Amino acid sequence: MARWFDNENPGLRNFWHPVARVADLDNSRPHAVRLLGVDYTLAQLDGHWALLPETCPHRLAPLTSGTIVGETLQCAYHGWKFDGSGSCVDIPALGSEATIPPTAHLETPAAIEERYGLIWVALDEPLHPIPAVPEWNDDAFGVAVIPAQVWQASAAQMADNFLDVAHFPFTHLGTIGDPEDLEVAPYEVTRDGWSFSSVHHHSSKVLGDATSGETEAFTTFHRTMTFRCDAPHHVRLHIDYGVDGDLVLLFFHQPIDVGHSALYSLALAENIADGRMTAADHIAFQSEVGREDRELLERLATKAVPLEVGVETHTRADRITVELRRLLADIDDLPTG
Ligand code: FES
Ligand SMILES: [Fe+2]
Repeated sequence: MARWFDNENPGLRNFWHPVARVADLDNSRPHAVRLLGVDYTLAQLDGHWALLPETCPHRLAPLTSGTIVGETLQCAYHGWKFDGSGSCVDIPALGSEATIPPTAHLETPAAIEERYGLIWVALDEPLHPIPAVPEWNDDAFGVAVIPAQVWQASAAQMADNFLDVAHFPFTHLGTIGDPEDLEVAPYEVTRDGWSFSSVHHHSSKVLGDATSGETEAFTTFHRTMTFRCDAPHHVRLHIDYGVDGDLVLLFFHQPIDVGHSALYSLALAENIADGRMTAADHIAFQSEVGREDRELLERLATKAVPLEVGVETHTRADRITVELRRLLADIDDLPTG
């Protein structure tokens, strides 16, 4: 049987996933989070974000209906209280001398961390770190936060699209695609453990300089694009426009369930820091580029990426996305349980 990689692959438990943008959260109440097809409750307890199961171990009430009381989350049904480590610390019906049943303990993820304005979770011990972004604390770059979106596609399909170097003049004719730049020059892909990278040179349209009074909305640039993919399917794209400064695009994915993924995207740009462009300009432009990809991806017949040669037809222009399939196959090969 052909192997396919979808958003509920068990190997994904061993890697970091973003589950929310901190700025979107109200820390006075619990929030619903869905990851790898399972529902969780995200709450800030004792100053730290904690991911707890959605179901109370007592009578299976939803913990997202609970309330934050002191350093605990209190279930709305019978008032059991849980701390950030998942321990049940109070069963009101049993009084202060209560013996807490061991099965009242909630399972928590192996690791949870805040980075790049996002909350990251690894359900089991992570095999690879959260992707590094060297430009994050670099004053030469300004940050544009693109609002989180949920796409009806798998995270692997979205990464496949963000790594793809042959689709610009077709999918993105309305934005970055240069209709004259069809051929993909030969290129190398370098695998390094649970990541790989690749460098490309090609021409692209970019938004005109807002401060120069140009009447043309776009100008064409020769650009060098350095792609890096970190397992399971996070993409960092560093674009060097030569004369116009650098742009770093980050595509972090949350595999929600088989049919849905959240995209947390950021643009770090030198032309924001030097005042030639605004974060709002970048948000509007990247949202439009993303809309072009999304329209196509959501219409793919499956919500998974095939791992076997023969299901799709690969060419030398697809080396980078073939490497993604190798990385996904290695995740699929991880022992489960
Ligand atoms: S169902 Fe949660 S305390 Fe009873
Ligand atoms: Fe695209």
